[in-house]
Amino acid sequence: MSVTVFYFSGTGNSLVAARTLSARLTEAFVVPLAGILRAGKKYQVQTDKTVFIFPVYCAGIPALVARALELVDLSQTSYVAAIANCASSAGAALDIFAAELRRCCNKSLAAGWVIYMPGNYTPLYGSDSPDTITRTLRECDNRLLEIACAVNQGTVVDYALPMPLAMLTGFLWKINVSCFPYMQKRFKAERTCTGCGLCAKVCPVDNIVISSAGRPQWLKKCEQCMACLQYCPVEAIQCLWWTKGRARYRHPEIAASEIIAQKRMPEVNRIL
Ligand SMILES: Cc1cc2nc3c(=O)[nH]c(=O)nc-3n(C[C@H](O)[C@H](O)[C@H](O)COP(=O)(O)O)c2cc1C
Ligand code: SF4
Ligand code: SF4
Repeated sequence: MSVTVFYFSGTGNSLVAARTLSARLTEAFVVPLAGILRAGKKYQVQTDKTVFIFPVYCAGIPALVARALELVDLSQTSYVAAIANCASSAGAALDIFAAELRRCCNKSLAAGWVIYMPGNYTPLYGSDSPDTITRTLRECDNRLLEIACAVNQGTVVDYALPMPLAMLTGFLWKINVSCFPYMQKRFKAERTCTGCGLCAKVCPVDNIVISSAGRPQWLKKCEQCMACLQYCPVEAIQCLWWTKGRARYRHPEIAASEIIAQKRMPEVNRIL
C-alpha cells in the first residue's frame, strides 16, 4: 500500500505533520502543493491512497490549497483523506475541503481529522511559551500515530459539521480569504531590514519583490501564510501595528530552506 501525502505549510507545522505521518505509513511520498501550483502542471497521483495536510485559515482552508486541487488528478487513487491543522478551532475546514475536492477532482473525502499545533497568526496573538509549544507538538505527534494507523487501515471517518453551520462558516471563509490578496498594504519592513531577501524567497506564491533600494515590496497575491513575517531573521516585518513586540512563531525544526523547497515542482515518486 502506498500513500501520497500532499501538504501546504506557511511556518512549518503542516510540513512536520506530513513528514511525521509519512514516517509511520508503509510507503509514502511527501508532495508540496505550492510546488504543483507554481509549476502549473497537472500532477497525477499513482498511489492507492492520498492524504492532504494543510493549516486552517479563517475556519476554512488556504485559498492556495483549493487552487492546487485543480491541478491534481486523483482518478487512480481509491482513498482520499484530509488533516486540518489548526491552533484552536478548525471550523468548517474539512467540509470546505471536501466540497473543493468534489468540485475539482470529482472525489469524496473518506476521512477527515483535526490536529492541534501552535498558532502562527501573530496579527492576533503572540507565540505560546516554549513549554506550551513542546507539549502541543508532543500531543500532536501522538495523535498523528493514531491517524497513521487509520490511514494504513483505510478507515472511514466522519468529519462533517451540521449543514447550516458548515454553510454559514463556508460563506464567511470565502469573504475572508477573498480579501487576503489585498492585505499586502498591511505589511511593511522596518528600518532594521537588512535587505537580505529571505522574505521573498520563503513566500510560497512569490508575492514579495526586493526593490532596487533593497527593501521588500508586497504584491497583490498574498495568502497570509505568515512565512515572510515569521522567517525574517531580524523580525523587521510588521503587519500594521498589530505585530509589534509580539513573540514570533515558526516550527522549531523547520529551517527557511525547507519552506523555500516547497516551491519546487515535486519529482514524481520521490520519498522525502
Ligand atoms: C491567515 C491565518 C488564519 C488562521 N485561522 C485559524 C483559524 O481559523 N483557526 C485556528 O485554529 N487557527 C488558525 N490559524 C493558525 C494556523 O492554522 C496554525 O497555526 C497552523 O498550525 C499553521 O500551520 P503551518 O505552520 O503549516 O502554516 C490561522 C493562521 C493563519 C496564518
Ligand atoms: S527577510 Fe527581513 S531583513 Fe531580509 S529583506 Fe525581508 S524584511 Fe528585510
Ligand atoms: S507575502 Fe508573506 S504572508 Fe503573504 S503569501 Fe507571501 S510569505 Fe505569505
